[in-house]
This record gives sequence, C-alpha cells and structure tokens, in this order.
Amino acid sequence: MLVLSFFWGQYFCNKIFIKNIMNYSTNTIFNSTIAAYAVSAACELEFLDELQHNGTINITNICDNRNLHKPSIISIFDALCCFDICIATENPGIFKQGSLFSDIYRNKGFFLWLVRGYGTIMQNLASVVKNENRTGNFIQRNGEYVAIASQQQGSCMVEPYFDSILNESSFTKVVDLGCGSAERLINLAKKFPSVRGIGIDINPEAVKVAQKAILVAGVESQIKVIQADMRKLEQQTDFIDVDTLLCFFSGHDLWPWENCLHIMRNFHTAFPNVKRFLLCDTYRSGTVPSSDIPTFTLGFELIHSFMGQYIPSITEWMALFAESGWKCVQRQDIEVSFSTIFDLRPE
Ligand SMILES: C[S@@+](CC[C@H](N)C(=O)[O-])C[C@H]1O[C@@H](n2cnc3c(N)ncnc32)[C@H](O)[C@@H]1O
Repeated sequence: MLVLSFFWGQYFCNKIFIKNIMNYSTNTIFNSTIAAYAVSAACELEFLDELQHNGTINITNICDNRNLHKPSIISIFDALCCFDICIATENPGIFKQGSLFSDIYRNKGFFLWLVRGYGTIMQNLASVVKNENRTGNFIQRNGEYVAIASQQQGSCMVEPYFDSILNESSFTKVVDLGCGSAERLINLAKKFPSVRGIGIDINPEAVKVAQKAILVAGVESQIKVIQADMRKLEQQTDFIDVDTLLCFFSGHDLWPWENCLHIMRNFHTAFPNVKRFLLCDTYRSGTVPSSDIPTFTLGFELIHSFMGQYIPSITEWMALFAESGWKCVQRQDIEVSFSTIFDLRPE
C-alpha cells in the first residue's frame, strides 16, 4: 500500500510537472506580457471597438486618417495575431477578429487598468519592496486611467447587476463615493430626469474625467462632482436629502478594520436620511496560487499588497457592517471574480 501511494505520489508530481511544461513556457510568459501591453494600447486607441463593431480594421486607413506611426501599429497587431486575438487577412493592412477576440474585448478594461493605471508600480516592483523606498508618495497610480478602466469594465460586468438591484427600491438623490468617471451617476441621470446625484472622488484626475463626462452627457443640472476624501466627510446641507449611497470598488481603500469601522459609522452622521447603501467591492479571494486564478484577481491582490492596502474577506466585510450599524439584507455577485454588491440598510 505504502509503495503504491509512493508510486501515485510520484506519478501525480510528474503529471503536474509535465502539464506545466506542456502548458507554460518562458516563451508564452514573455510574449503574453507583450500581448497585454498591445491589448491595452489597442483598447485605448479604440482599435478593439472598431474590430468589435465592423469585424475588420484597416490599419493603413487608420494611420493615414489619424496620423499614426504605421510600423508601431503593425507591431501592435503582430502581437495580437500571436495570440489569435486578430488575424491578418489576404488584403494587406486589413485584420479581422481572431478566436480569442470576444473574450479579450469583454476583459479589455482589466488590461488598461494594469498597464496604464498601475504600470508604474508594476515596473518598479523590485524597488517598492525595499522599505527605504516606501516613504512619501511611493504609490504611483494613474487616477485618470484607473477611472476610465474601471468604467470600461463596469459597463459590461457590473452595470446589469447594479441596475436590477438598484431598481428594487425608489430613490431621488444619490451620492457615489469614489465615483471615478461618474459614469454610474450619469447613466442614472439619463434614465431618471428627476434624480439628482453627487459624485465624490479624492483623485483630481478622476474628478476631471468625471466633470468632462458630465458635460458631454449634458446632465450637469442633475449631477455635480466634488473632490473630497470620503474618509473625512461632514454633514452638509447638500447631503441632508440623500436617500441612496453607492460605493463601487473603493471600499477596500477604507481598511484596515478600525479605520473602516469609523468611516462606515460616520456615513450615518454625514448622510442622516440615507435609506440604502449599495457597496460593491472585490474581496480577498483566499485562493491558492495556480493557473486557475481568474483574470484580474492575481493583479488586484498583488498590486494592493505592494500598496500596503489590506483587502478584506467577505466574512470580514459582513462583520464590519454589523458592527458599524449597516444591515446587509442581500448580496448580488457580479461578473468580476470575487466581487459582490452588498445591499445595506441603516439599523
Ligand atoms: C477603482 S476606482 C472605481 C471608480 C468607480 N466607483 C467605478 O466603479 O468605476 C476607485 C475610485 O475611488 C477613489 N477613491 C479612493 N479612495 C478614496 C477616498 N478616500 N475618497 C474618495 N475617493 C476615493 C479613487 O480615486 C478612484 O477613482
């Protein structure tokens, strides 16, 4: 029996080893890193949108019309072709969707988030681990791209769930804490002309993105954005009639426990008439590192540990709600891995 289990142990070790060799190689890791940069650029330059809407893209026309450097654009498409995200057609300069295109298109915001939002941290991992470098403003993230990427990803993986849960109750004035691009408030204002909204974000670049988007959407009479720290909000006239609070993908920034507890309690004071609080966040996955880790999770957890930002588990969130006077009446999982909308009511 012992011999047999030793044999099977060896067998499985070898199997895993063989599987790893078969599925992964230095080549795949190196080239897919380049492809991730190419996806981010193709997303930002709206090439992916064009491929999605037209099925093909003519890079000769695009370079001429937009004054882009053609050899660079060809290199982006070469990298995308290596992973079957797109395919060169027999017509020079024209590419069509590859077999991986739809999946990449659906996840494109994650690439923008990683490369543009947190690219500086990712380039400097070896420096940021040194305690002597972890002083002052060592967290270099690009607030503009974090906001844009979050909005891009949210539109397909969050909004359908948000819409259905929000519409279960009526609302007249909504505050979005850590609003980023303010897209969520803008959509609400367009759908419900009598609804008013206030977006709050700490990052000046995100506030600029939001203010521009509000003007473009023509909803400035309904929505305003203020640059403020949600950790230090005080009651003000504008907050008295707020009935609904939102906080999407920024709740983890309020932890550790003691800080978050204080802030969540303070929301009762700052917004005395709030009836409902929809808090949506990505929680600690607790997964063992493996090839099965879904898109985003590995990047999200790595970047936050480098930033020194604690990511709470779902159990920790639930305990904190109970202690801070928020009753969680339901949870709605969304399409982003390990992420959920907590539907909270003041107790
Ligand atoms: C990942 S983005 C999410 C943006 C938006 N809620 C969304 O779902 O698309 C997190 C946002 O929270 C903002 N934020 C983080 N900490 C904040 C704080 N203490 N006060 C206000 N905003 C904050 C960031 O600047 C950023 O724009």
